[in-house]
Amino acid sequence: MKTVKNTISKVTTQVLREMKANGEKIAMLTAYDYSMAKIVDEANIDVVLVGDSAANVMAGHVTTLPITLDQMIYHGQSVVRAVKRALVVVDLPFGTYQGNSKEALYSAVRVMKETGADAVKLEGGEEILESVQRILSAGIPVMGHLGLTPQSINKFGTYVVRATGKTEAEKLKKDAVLLEKAGCFGLVLEKIPAKLTAEVVQSVKIPIIGIGAGTPADGQVLVVHDMLGITQDFSPRFLRRYANLNEIIGNATRQYVKDVKTKDFPNKKEQY
Ligand code: KIV
Repeated sequence: MKTVKNTISKVTTQVLREMKANGEKIAMLTAYDYSMAKIVDEANIDVVLVGDSAANVMAGHVTTLPITLDQMIYHGQSVVRAVKRALVVVDLPFGTYQGNSKEALYSAVRVMKETGADAVKLEGGEEILESVQRILSAGIPVMGHLGLTPQSINKFGTYVVRATGKTEAEKLKKDAVLLEKAGCFGLVLEKIPAKLTAEVVQSVKIPIIGIGAGTPADGQVLVVHDMLGITQDFSPRFLRRYANLNEIIGNATRQYVKDVKTKDFPNKKEQY
C-alpha cells in the first residue's frame, strides 16, 4: 500500500538555531486568529507569534495590559488549529508571571496544555529570571523579550527607542546573557539602536529577532495588522507596509454596500 509522505516539516527551536548558524534570516509575524494564521503559515513564515498585541489590534485597547490569560489561550488555540509548519509562540500576558514563579509556571502550563503551542514569550530580564527558570525546568521552551517591553509602558511612560544610554544598554546586554544561560531558545529585541543589537548578537548564540532593532538581528518580527496596512494610525520608522488592506477592505465594503442598496447584489445567478 502506498503511503502519502507528509512533506511539511515543522519549524522547531533547533531549526531556528540552525538557521542562525547558517546565516539564514528568520521571518516572524504575529497572528491571532485561524484565517490569518493559515495564510501566513502557508506563505512559509518561520515563527507565528500570538502576541499580546492582540489587546491593541484585536480588542482596541490602548496598551497590552488588559488582555487576560484566558483571552491569550483563545487566540493561541485559534492559531494552533491553522498552523502546520511554523513554530507557534504565545505571549504570557501582563500580571501572569512577573511576581511569582509558581504562578508563571501555572500560566505557561495552561498555555501549553490548552493551546498546543510550541513555546511561550515573557518580557523582561533579571527581574523575571526566576519565573523563566521555573518554566524552563518544566520543559517549556521560553523566548525572552528585551528593549521596549510594552507591558512596562507605565514605567517607561513613552514608546521611544530604548537603551540609547549606557546604563540601560549595559543592563540589556547583561539580561540577554542571563536569559541565554537560563536556557531561552531566542530573544526578541524591540526598538533599540542597531549598534546595540549587533553587540547582543555577538555576545549570545541564540537567535535574536528584532522589531525596530535593525539589520544585525538574526530575524525580524512585525505585527501582521501593521505590516498589511490594516492599521493606519501607527507609523514608526521601522515599519514597512507590504499592502494597504485598509484601503482594499474599505473599497470592497463600499462597493458591497452600493451593490446591496442598488439591488445589484444578489443577482439571479447568486440565488437558489
Ligand atoms: O505582542 C507582540 O506583538 C509582540 C511583538 C511586538 C514582538 O510582542
